[in-house]
Amino acid sequence: MAASASEVASAPIKRLEGKVALITGAARGLGECTARLFTQHGAKVVIADILDDLGHSVSQTIPGSTYVHCDVTNEKDVENAVDTAVSKYGKLDIMFNNAGLGDYNKDNILDNDLADFQKVVNVNLIGVFLGTKHAARVMIPARSGNIINTASVCSIAGGLSSHAYTSSKHGVLGLTKNTAVELGRYGIRVNCVSPYVVATPMAKEFFRLDDEGVHNIYSPLKGAAIEPQDFAEAALFLASNESKFVNGHNLVADGGYTITNYGFTIFK
Ligand SMILES: NC(=O)c1ccc[n+]([C@@H]2O[C@H](COP(=O)([O-])OP(=O)(O)OC[C@H]3O[C@@H](n4cnc5c(N)ncnc54)[C@H](O)[C@@H]3O)[C@@H](O)[C@H]2O)c1
Repeated sequence: MAASASEVASAPIKRLEGKVALITGAARGLGECTARLFTQHGAKVVIADILDDLGHSVSQTIPGSTYVHCDVTNEKDVENAVDTAVSKYGKLDIMFNNAGLGDYNKDNILDNDLADFQKVVNVNLIGVFLGTKHAARVMIPARSGNIINTASVCSIAGGLSSHAYTSSKHGVLGLTKNTAVELGRYGIRVNCVSPYVVATPMAKEFFRLDDEGVHNIYSPLKGAAIEPQDFAEAALFLASNESKFVNGHNLVADGGYTITNYGFTIFK
């Protein structure tokens, strides 16, 4: 029986129907939430992470997804993850370089070891470079594609995190802009999402906060607190055709935190 006009009108719109996405760091946190939302919108999703047991079990709860082991600092792993998306689902439309690492107790530069600094930059920036490079390898011949990177409010503000983390996220924004210009020639868009503090395992460990504490961190926007779903919705916008002319953009989801100076504002 044909659907009635009201049923058609109320049917959820699937914004990623027929798309194939690869999301790094998707075994938990923001990446997992985004994998769920992307599949609900019709995408096939490859979940890539180093937490293999968790990644496999999460994938089993997300119809239309598959798990692949991928350390984003290892070029062979990244190459294999991209090739897995292509061999399993036939193509790669959306590359979401989301895997990231925070580092803790590093508020004095004298406590910053070279190896610790490099570890953060390796995951947060080199990982995005490798993901972008291997996604471009298959997207350039297709003359289309969509690359999204997870940056942070630390991509545009200082003093909120360690030197390594802030440097890495500023680097992600720079790489996003540079690759947006180069890859735009092939019809490939590159953008990033910059969330404020979201109550994921990383953030709770970083700020030593529970969910309640995370929600109480200052933001000028009252009556709302950022949830993983808000991050995923921002990524969905960038992944979908609704943003088809958005390229090289940093979509900051911070309730306006980075546009003001709380110490000086007259609106208290
Ligand atoms: N949660 C926040 O408040 C917040 C704010 C700003 C930006 N971010 C960024 O969001 C992204 C996701 O963070 P999250 O909060 O979901 O943290 P999370 O720790 O919950 O998830 C990060 C995921 O990345 C994976 N990962 C770490 N190193 C990896 C590697 N070498 N290769 C592959 N996967 C690896 C982890 O196993 C984990 O599954 C990160 O890039 C983070 O910097 C988070």
